[in-house]
Amino acid sequence: MTQVLRQLPPQPETKELLVGNEHSDDAGIYQISDEIALVQTVDYFTPIVDEPYLFGQIAAANALSDVYAMGGTPKTVLNIVGFPIKKLGGEILTEILAGAQSKVIEAGAVTAGGHSIDDPEPKFGLSVTGVVDPKKYWTNKGCKAGDVLVLTKPIGTGILTTGIKRLAVTDKQKEEVIASMSMLNKQAAETLQPFNPSAVTDVTGFGLLGHAYEMAKSSDVTLHLSYQSIPLLSGTEELADAGVIPGGSKANHLWLQEAVHYDPALSKVEQLILCDAITSGGLLVSLPKDQAEEYLEAMHGLSLGAWMVGEVTDFAGYSISVKA
Ligand code: CO
Ligand code: CO
Repeated sequence: MTQVLRQLPPQPETKELLVGNEHSDDAGIYQISDEIALVQTVDYFTPIVDEPYLFGQIAAANALSDVYAMGGTPKTVLNIVGFPIKKLGGEILTEILAGAQSKVIEAGAVTAGGHSIDDPEPKFGLSVTGVVDPKKYWTNKGCKAGDVLVLTKPIGTGILTTGIKRLAVTDKQKEEVIASMSMLNKQAAETLQPFNPSAVTDVTGFGLLGHAYEMAKSSDVTLHLSYQSIPLLSGTEELADAGVIPGGSKANHLWLQEAVHYDPALSKVEQLILCDAITSGGLLVSLPKDQAEEYLEAMHGLSLGAWMVGEVTDFAGYSISVKA
């Protein structure tokens, strides 16, 4: 995609566009007034679970996440639907939309409309518009040496959902991964509001290391992660060991080869887990150590997941360094 965008003729300089495409950030930000900027994003994909209501919930949580990752508050959404209505009937689509709506309501936003086309392969997602203070938004750029990295959801959703398709997961594992993907990043972001994070992103398709790389590269630093401290959904390692690894995760691993230095003690499977292509993952936050400790305490006080997964130093030869 980056390559394709590079081929485009440049668009006129627009000073209101505070964040555009340049740093692969989560959403675009456009300033409306001294107090208000719009945060805009769009995300859609093919079903990752068979249950239409749950798929709708996951797609919505995933799309809303990019607004949270920039410190914004979602306000309106538009549904984007590709669906073989004649073949599958309207009931399934109603379930998908109902699932999405439940999450949009939970987010405190409202559905303003949408568009659907007839499509042999179902696709669903949302475009989301939120608001943010133009003087106080987060981007994936700005990690500082000395910062600590905090992650707010375990990883492994790509491996687990592939396992679901291959009927290789237990009911409990399936419940856990679906609960994780349909959980909004609302509370994680709201709890972060009083702090001053240097950089924030959410972990999705490029995997933990891919999104960490985007952060490191735009901040000109090295992110040091430790495999031991990274939370995994239960079943992730067993499935990966058995070869249940989606193509997207392998592609991430290949793409990141030059950027990441892995401890030789890490197996190829462990490397692939770190590159697992995630749907609706948590926030990855870079913030000063004392604030990281307070943020963790606040999150745990609300019974929410938050883990210290690494730290930031000046650039040390690789964008990412992972120890076993
Ligand atoms: Co994102
Ligand atoms: Co996105």
